[in-house]
Formats: sequence, structure tokens, C-alpha cells
Amino acid sequence: KIENHLRPQLLDDYIGQSKIKETLKIYIKAAKERGEPLDHVLFYGPPGLGKTTLAGIIANELEVNLKVTSGPAIEKPGEMAAILNNLQEGDVLFVDEIHRLNRQVEEVLYPAMEDFAIDIMIGKGASARSIRLELPPFTLVGATTRAGMLTAPLRDRFGVVDRMEFYSVDELTAIILRSAQVLGVEIDERGAKELARRSRGTPRLANRLLKRVRDFAQVKYDGVISKQVADYALDLLDVDKYGLDQIDRNLLLTMIQKFQGGPVGLDTLAASVGEDAGTIEDVYEPYLLKNGFIQRTPRGRVATELSYRHLGILHENV
Ligand code: ADE
Repeated sequence: KIENHLRPQLLDDYIGQSKIKETLKIYIKAAKERGEPLDHVLFYGPPGLGKTTLAGIIANELEVNLKVTSGPAIEKPGEMAAILNNLQEGDVLFVDEIHRLNRQVEEVLYPAMEDFAIDIMIGKGASARSIRLELPPFTLVGATTRAGMLTAPLRDRFGVVDRMEFYSVDELTAIILRSAQVLGVEIDERGAKELARRSRGTPRLANRLLKRVRDFAQVKYDGVISKQVADYALDLLDVDKYGLDQIDRNLLLTMIQKFQGGPVGLDTLAASVGEDAGTIEDVYEPYLLKNGFIQRTPRGRVATELSYRHLGILHENV
């Protein structure tokens, strides 16, 4: 079980990603009817969009155990072998940040995924040989921020590969209303929508902001999250009308002021703002790209007219 009561437990309670949801529903039903494990599933896309939540739902719907680990957590092939060997028939193994598995660990997964077996080396040198250990059939659910970072042999072993999309304002509004109900906090439609607009298309952020705004509603207002309360709290939290935070705005401002709007290379930009290039690429850039604040060109990133306008409006407000 993944501890977070805001996470839905069933596909029918999961809001958004409708195509992924509808296809998963069919794959799960088909696998259950055949009495087989579900094919291995890979989710990729920006953080906070529900990859872990879906892994939990899959295990729940299949009525099997969920075992959770991550790429950086497994250092040795033997650790991966032990995890696989301890699974029960049909279980779901969720590997977050699967692109960060090291090569030897990843190689344990190849026969495990393909043949439900692991090959163990016995002895050394000329007398070395490998014996095959059978595993219970299982489902690997992998998550990564970028599918491009997986090696081809690993990627090819997933039967289902799904790209997670940013959520619409309507979907996030529904998620926020649901979460508010779970948390027992009163919120009106306009308050929920304002929170949704400023949540960067990301449920994890929406739920985090909801909790912070709830605090303001409780201490500074009458406990109800209205648009006025949401605006007040989110402005204080430096989350702007597009959901951009200080780091987003600093990225855009740096591109415009230090690099004349670009094109500027990712590493140059990263060094200039003091952020990790991978974090910019995985966490910040996708939303800015999706919403037209920046563009990627062969010569680097370019700030669009929208960025100038957006930051210009901010300047007038100061
Ligand atoms: N909480 C977080 N993500 C959710 C989603 N996609 N649907 C419903 N509730 C959620």
C-alpha cells in the first residue's frame, strides 16, 4: 500500500488521463479473465502526474500485492534478484525512476521480464556457469520522466507504454474538489478552479497547494476556500496566474535578460540559474514548452512572445 489518502484506489475514481485509463481497464480485465499476469507497463512523463498512483491502482484492481522500489535504490544485481524472487504470483513490482538502474541491475530484468527467470552465475573463471532460477509470473510497472533515457532492450520489454499528459483545468478542478472532500475542507467551485489554474497541470502540486491554501482559509478567513482566499494565498506563495513559480520565472527572465531571449543551450542556462540541467529538462521545461512560454530549437531554448508579455505584465504590477 502506498501511504497517501488523497490517492484514488480504483480506476473509476481516477480523474484524467482518460485514454490510459480506458485502455488499462481493458488490459486488466483481459489478464484477469485469462488468469495471467498483466503485461509489463511503462509510464513516462513529467513528475507529479500520477505514475505511482496508477501503479497502486493496477495492483489494487488486479487484487495482488504491490512492491515499490526505485532505480537509485537498487545498487547490486543480487538485490534485484532478491526482490524478484520474493514476489508472489501475479504481483506488481513498481520501479520508479527506472532509467536510473545501473547496467548490471538492468540486465537482471531482461530474462525476468521476458521469461520470468533469473540467471545466476556460479563459480569463477573457466568453471563458471549459470543456473536459471524460475520466478513467479509478475507485472513490472516502470516509471520514468523521459522514455528517451531508457535503453532500447529495456524499453522493448514493456508490452504497454503510456505517456502521461498534463491535466486540464477542468480535470484538476475535479481532483481538487475530490481532495477537499477527502480532507474535509470546504471549497467553492471558483476557489477550486483558481487553484486548478495555478497548479501547472499537475495533481501533486494541486494537492500540495490545496493544503497550503486550506491553512490560510482556516487562520485568516472563515475556513472556506473561495476564489478570494485562493488568490490571496497563492499570491503570497509566489504562484502566479499561470501557475509559474519563482524558478520558472527566473528561467524565463534569465533567457530574456542574459541571453536576449535565446537560443541558449540547456547547460548554459542551467549554469546561469544555478539549477541542475536534468531537473530543468524533466521538471520545469515540459510545462513551459506545453504552454508556449519557450520553444526548443536545434540551437537551444528560445523564450516566446508569451514569456515577454507575461513577465512584462508582472513588471507593471511591481
Ligand atoms: N489525486 C491525485 N491524482 C488524482 C487523479 N488523477 N484523480 C483523482 N484524484 C487524484
